Order: sequence, then C-alpha cells, then structure tokens
Amino acid sequence: MKSPAYWAVLFGMAIALIQRGLPVRSQGDTQSDNTVMENITVRQGETVFLSCSQGDVVTHTAWLNRSSILYAGEDKWSVDPRVSLVTLNRDEFTIKIDNIDVSDEGLYVCAVQTSSKPRTTSVHIIVQVPPKIFNFSKTMVVNEGFNVTLMCLANGKPEPAISWKMLSHKANDDFESVDEYFEIPSISRNKAGLYECTAANDIAIDRKTVNVVVNFPPTVFESRDVGVTLGHSGVLRCEADAVPEADFEWFRDDRRIFNGFDGIEIENMGSMSKLTFHNVSEADYGNYTCVAINKLGSANTSIVLYEVIEPTSSTLLQEMTTSVLEQTSTERNQLREGPGAVQDGNSGTAEAYKPICLFLIAALQLLLKF
Ligand SMILES: *[C@@H]1O[C@H](CO)[C@@H](O)[C@H](O)[C@H]1NC(C)=O
Ligand SMILES: *[C@@H]1O[C@H](CO)[C@@H](O)[C@H](O)[C@H]1NC(C)=O
Ligand SMILES: *[C@@H]1O[C@H](CO)[C@@H](O)[C@H](O)[C@H]1NC(C)=O
Ligand SMILES: *[C@@H]1O[C@H](CO)[C@@H](O)[C@H](O)[C@H]1NC(C)=O
Ligand SMILES: *[C@@H]1O[C@H](CO)[C@@H](O)[C@H](O)[C@H]1NC(C)=O
Ligand SMILES: *[C@@H]1O[C@H](CO)[C@@H](O)[C@H](O)[C@H]1NC(C)=O
Ligand SMILES: *[C@@H]1O[C@H](CO)[C@@H](O)[C@H](O)[C@H]1NC(C)=O
Repeated sequence: MKSPAYWAVLFGMAIALIQRGLPVRSQGDTQSDNTVMENITVRQGETVFLSCSQGDVVTHTAWLNRSSILYAGEDKWSVDPRVSLVTLNRDEFTIKIDNIDVSDEGLYVCAVQTSSKPRTTSVHIIVQVPPKIFNFSKTMVVNEGFNVTLMCLANGKPEPAISWKMLSHKANDDFESVDEYFEIPSISRNKAGLYECTAANDIAIDRKTVNVVVNFPPTVFESRDVGVTLGHSGVLRCEADAVPEADFEWFRDDRRIFNGFDGIEIENMGSMSKLTFHNVSEADYGNYTCVAINKLGSANTSIVLYEVIEPTSSTLLQEMTTSVLEQTSTERNQLREGPGAVQDGNSGTAEAYKPICLFLIAALQLLLKF
C-alpha cells in the first residue's frame, strides 16, 4: 500500500511535465484537455479564489503555482499560511490565497487526472499595486540663485506616471514636469512655494507636496515723508520684503533709536516696522532712516518728519484747510520725487508760503459765497 503522498509526488512530477509541454504533449499520444481562463486582476492585499471543475472519474487533482503544488486533493503542500482549501467535491476544487502580493503574480494551474486523460485549467493572476511615493524631497530652504532639484520616487503596478506642478500661482505655468526629478535652475523668489508631485496609475493616485523656501536679502519700499503738527502724534512706516523676515533698526541721522526712547515707540509687525511719536516736539522734526536686515543683506530708506502749521478757526474752515494742505503736501512730494527736486521742503521760502496762500484763496472763495 503506497501512501497518498507518494502518489501525489508522482502526480506532481507528471503535472510538471504537462506544464512544460514535454515530453507528454510532443509525443501526441495523450490528448490533454487544456483550458486557459481569463486573467484575474486583483489588488495587492485582496483575496483570490482559484476554482476548477472536477468530474466523476477524477483520480487525482491539484492546484499548482508555477511548478510547485499548493494542494494535492485535500492535502496542503504549500507551507504558506495564506493558502487554504475552500471546496473540494465532485464538481469543483477551489482554493484561496489571502493577502495577495506582487510575488504571487503568475500562472496557476489546476491539473486533473482522470482515468482516461489529464486535463489542466490555467489562470494568470495579475497583481496591481496602488502608487506610493516612497522617497520625496523634504522642505527645502535655499538662497535665491541656487539650482534646486526636487525628487519624487514612487512605486506601484502598473508603473505610476509622475507629474509635478506648482500649487502657488506666483510663477508662470511652465512649471509642469513629468520626471521623477524636477529641476529648477537658478531659483528666483517668485518660484518659492508649494510643489506637488502626483504619482498615478490605473487604480489610484498618490500625492505629496513640498515647500520650497527661497531666501533673499531685504528690499525696502520707498516711503513718503510725513508731515505732523507740533504736539500731535505721528507715525513713520517702513516696509521690507525679505526671506527670512527682516529685522528693523531705526536711526535719526547717525544715532540709533530704541523703543521707548524720548517718547518714541517702535513696533515691528512682520514685514513692517512702525515708529510712533506720541507728542511731536520741535526737536523731533528731521531725517529718519529705517534699516531692514536679514542674514543675506540689508537695505534702507529715509523718511523726513516735517512740520505742518496747525490750522485754527471754525470746523468748516478747518476741513477746507485740511484738504488744501493735503493737496499741498502731495504737490510737495511730487516736487521732491521729480528730477532735480529740492531735497527738503522746509528749506524753500516759497514752499513755506504756499499753504498760507492757498488757505487765503480758500477763505476768500468762502466769503464770496455770502
Ligand atoms: C494575461 O496576462 C499575461 C501576462 O501578463 C498576458 O501575457 C496575456 O496576454 C494576458 N491574457 C489576457 C487574455 O489578457
Ligand atoms: C507562488 O510562487 C512564487 C515563486 O516561487 C512565490 O514567490 C509565491 O509566494 C507563490 N505564491 C503562492 C500563493 O504560493
Ligand atoms: C531617498 O533618496 C535619497 C537620494 O537619492 C537616498 O539617499 C535615500 O537613501 C532614499 N531613501 C529611501 C528611503 O529610499
Ligand atoms: C546651476 O547650474 C548651472 C548649469 O547647470 C551651473 O552653471 C551653475 O554653476 C549652477 N549653480 C549653482 C549655484 O550650483
Ligand atoms: C506734548 O508736549 C508738550 C511739551 O512737552 C506739552 O506741553 C503737552 O501737554 C504735551 N501734549 C500731550 C497731549 O501730551
Ligand atoms: C536723510 O539721511 C540719509 C542717510 O543719512 C541721506 O542719504 C538722505 O539724503 C537724507 N535725506 C534728507 C532729505 O536729508
Ligand atoms: C543705506 O544704503 C546705502 C546704499 O543703498 C548704504 O550706502 C548706506 O550705508 C546704508 N545706510 C545704512 C544706515 O545702513
């Protein structure tokens, strides 16, 4: 009496021969009946059922993975715990593979030995894997002008397609790429921001974003001179564009000014610094310089705090005067900004008389109305 294992080994060897198509098939004396089933496409991690039909006179039956037997009848040959028997009866022989992986991809054969002829049913398992970005650039901090290379390595089955795009719309739209490595030569500040890599295949999409920080030295915005009436409050504003954000220093001529010094308050709010005089005195009028500094450099701008003559009389007149004075100060600024303009408005006598003249004209017009 031979053990079932013995038969199974013999049977397995026979099956292996059938699979290779020799010498059994080449001899042509055994009419084997081979069925090829449609491919089974599954996702990694899913369970696959493999089923083949049986028959009345089946003597041996087996499911094979390539040339190794998974099940010979109800005997499990595979040591893989994911493989198990579902049904074995006169009609069908079904096994299942849990938690399928890429290495399980391939041809599976059900070999049935009847009294007359062997019969095989083969099926191809195709395993799909959703894309996964496994190596991606970390947040990048570079100085303006550097060559930046962003990296997005992804796997998946089918092989995912990579695409890049810039999420912040600061730059032009020529920032699309389909390479795993995305090059930004000589990066400029307007190319700073979030970049997104997308890895896509037939079954899913994976996305990751990386922030690219571009450092650059401060540039200060041109500031207007400020006119304040004696005893009133006045504010000098200085704004700078810089990464990392600038620190501010204020100077009166060559002397550094600190917060709380002589009733002056300095407030820094991000990209802006504010110098506040709560009660402007004669001595406060003058030339102030704001210096914006970061590790890459500095920039400065000068603002003149000049005196504005205090208006008097009725509210109506005061309102008119204010508007006239505003106009005058605008003109003064335009003059100063113009080519070859006088540097300090307070030095010209004609300039000093102008607001008074305009004030008189306005008052005259008002009187003529009555
Ligand atoms: C099944 O998959 C195999 C291997 O990928 C392929 O060669 C064959 O053409 C596929 N058959 C069908 C019917 O899709
Ligand atoms: C099928 O065979 C391949 C190659 O030997 C192996 O890596 C895989 O784990 C096997 N799968 C099953 C379900 O037996
Ligand atoms: C990611 O890529 C970098 C650069 O090519 C390499 O040094 C690193 O080992 C990779 N990390 C992983 C997890 O593959
Ligand atoms: C950036 O790349 C260009 C051309 O590839 C090269 O000439 C230049 O030296 C690089 N700049 C830096 C800062 O590496
Ligand atoms: C502003 O300062 C002047 C001179 O020091 C003082 O007379 C005046 O009361 C102050 N005004 C306010 C509102 O503090
Ligand atoms: C203010 O001071 C700065 C720096 O000292 C100087 O460059 C600028 O000409 C001065 N402006 C005026 C109006 O005097
Ligand atoms: C202001 O900037 C000019 C050049 O733009 C520089 O020569 C000067 O030294 C700067 N002043 C300060 C106080 O930093």
